[in-house]
Amino acid sequence: MSIKNICCLGAGYVGGPTCSVIALKCPEIKVTVADLSKDRIAQWNSEKLPIYEPGLDDVVRKCRGKNLFFSNNIEESILEADLIFISVNTPTKINGNGKGRAADLKYVEGAARIIADVAQNNKIVVEKSTVPVRAAESIANILIANQKPGVTYQILSNPEFLAEGTAVNDLLNADRVLIGGENTEAGREAVEKLCSIYEHWLPRKNIVTMNTWSSELSKLAANAMLAQRISSINSLSAVCEATGADVSEVARAVGLDSRIGSKFLQASVGFGGSCFQKDILNLVYICECLNLPEVAAYWQQVIDMNEYQKHRFTTKIIESCFNTLSGKKICILGFAFKKNTGDTRESPAIHVAKTLLDEGASIKIYDPKVDKEQIDEDLTNPYVCENPENYRKRISIYTDPYTASKDCHAIVVCTEWDEFVDLDYKKIYGNMMKPAYIFDGRKILDHQALINIGYHVQTIGKRL
Ligand code: UDX
Ligand code: UDX
Ligand code: ADP
Repeated sequence: MSIKNICCLGAGYVGGPTCSVIALKCPEIKVTVADLSKDRIAQWNSEKLPIYEPGLDDVVRKCRGKNLFFSNNIEESILEADLIFISVNTPTKINGNGKGRAADLKYVEGAARIIADVAQNNKIVVEKSTVPVRAAESIANILIANQKPGVTYQILSNPEFLAEGTAVNDLLNADRVLIGGENTEAGREAVEKLCSIYEHWLPRKNIVTMNTWSSELSKLAANAMLAQRISSINSLSAVCEATGADVSEVARAVGLDSRIGSKFLQASVGFGGSCFQKDILNLVYICECLNLPEVAAYWQQVIDMNEYQKHRFTTKIIESCFNTLSGKKICILGFAFKKNTGDTRESPAIHVAKTLLDEGASIKIYDPKVDKEQIDEDLTNPYVCENPENYRKRISIYTDPYTASKDCHAIVVCTEWDEFVDLDYKKIYGNMMKPAYIFDGRKILDHQALINIGYHVQTIGKRL
């Protein structure tokens, strides 16, 4: 029997877009996205979705109320479903064994326990959150230990590779879908059922099946290798600044080798996002637990290089401003971890803002999609600062870049939003303190034009 009813636990950046696209492409399947958070579900059912993703509004508008539902009724959604995606958050542990590195599986475990409590018929349970290798086994252990008579489970691993800001396109045109399952008749049957969902819009050759552990490790490996490319080019950006080479020219030359390829070679202030750092820390922790310290140290270096890059950039700002920021106003353009998203998780802008605040600066922030409340939370939570009031009185958030930059000594570009390229920098210059500085952490601006206006300009991987 084919899948008629899907439920997804977790209405976040992964669960929401993934299930919306499944609903769009599989009109005969009822898809319910269930979350514990009443607020989140209310937002998914409103005109303003809880996440900004180009193209997502259209998809949701087409399907919501027809075959796509957002609900807080987790029990009912599980009861009805033939297949359940677990798409809950997997933050890094903040306490105990593996603190700061291991994945905290409490939400995954919570989801598995609810399924075990509620299910009354056979279910295919699909692990979609990024989870450390062997998490499927933990899910299986919980489900099997609490199994009711007449109920069987098949557990599959189906890691998600969408990137934020391009989620809908990534889902519609996925390079590949990975499905890991048990190599038994029932396991293969479950894998086939999940394949048939994706085959509604993807060619079979793009759907790759493998054993569960390979599938789980592939997700960590893909993110680790993508982040490694960024750390590699960022490490070379330091060499460029020291020698007079231009990292964009180096990246272009290197990327033309088809064995290397041109993507993910954009030097920057550093990578952010909810996945790269978390997944690598996880990989490092797993390697240590497997008694592979050399492997752990190798991957840790990708994180260390990213910290170094962020530090190098802020040091450049401080040094250029005569080694003192006390009493100065600095405008931060962009707070999201990349363009076309409102997400700020692990955003390099947080590091930049915190460092400038610690140096005594007042900061004026503009981002087209990040909410004021989010910025406030990111800069004043206890992990970032000890005295939130001291920070708060020096942070102001604006809804346009012109007022944000007025009376500032410097502008710091932290996110590569397209709209920053075409701002009227002449007008902005007129309203800034002099000498006026621009630090382009994303290499998106026309540096020569800015120098001609009168700015002092610095960027990554190139001496100007
Ligand atoms: C290399 C570069 O490829 C070439 O562009 C440069 O001009 C000279 O150095 P070469 O050393 O001749 O060429 O061979 P290459 O095919 O790069 O292999 C180098 C080594 O890496 C070999 O020992 C090869 O067996 C090994 N290798 C290569 C792997 O172990 N795995 C791979 O996936 C690829
Ligand atoms: C990443 C993976 O790309 C995706 O496959 C996985 O499912 C989740 O993690 P995401 O974090 O959403 O996606 O965005 P991504 O485009 O990978 O960018 C991550 C960070 O790297 C951003 O801060 C981005 O600005 C930075 N980056 C990316 C660079 O600094 N240079 C680059 O060349 C590419
Ligand atoms: P991701 O980026 O991986 O999608 P998010 O943090 O955006 O992660 O979303 C995860 C969602 O999962 C949150 O909205 C959270 O409320 C939800 N969640 C956590 N545990 C459960 C659970 N047991 N059942 C349903 N939803 C859950």
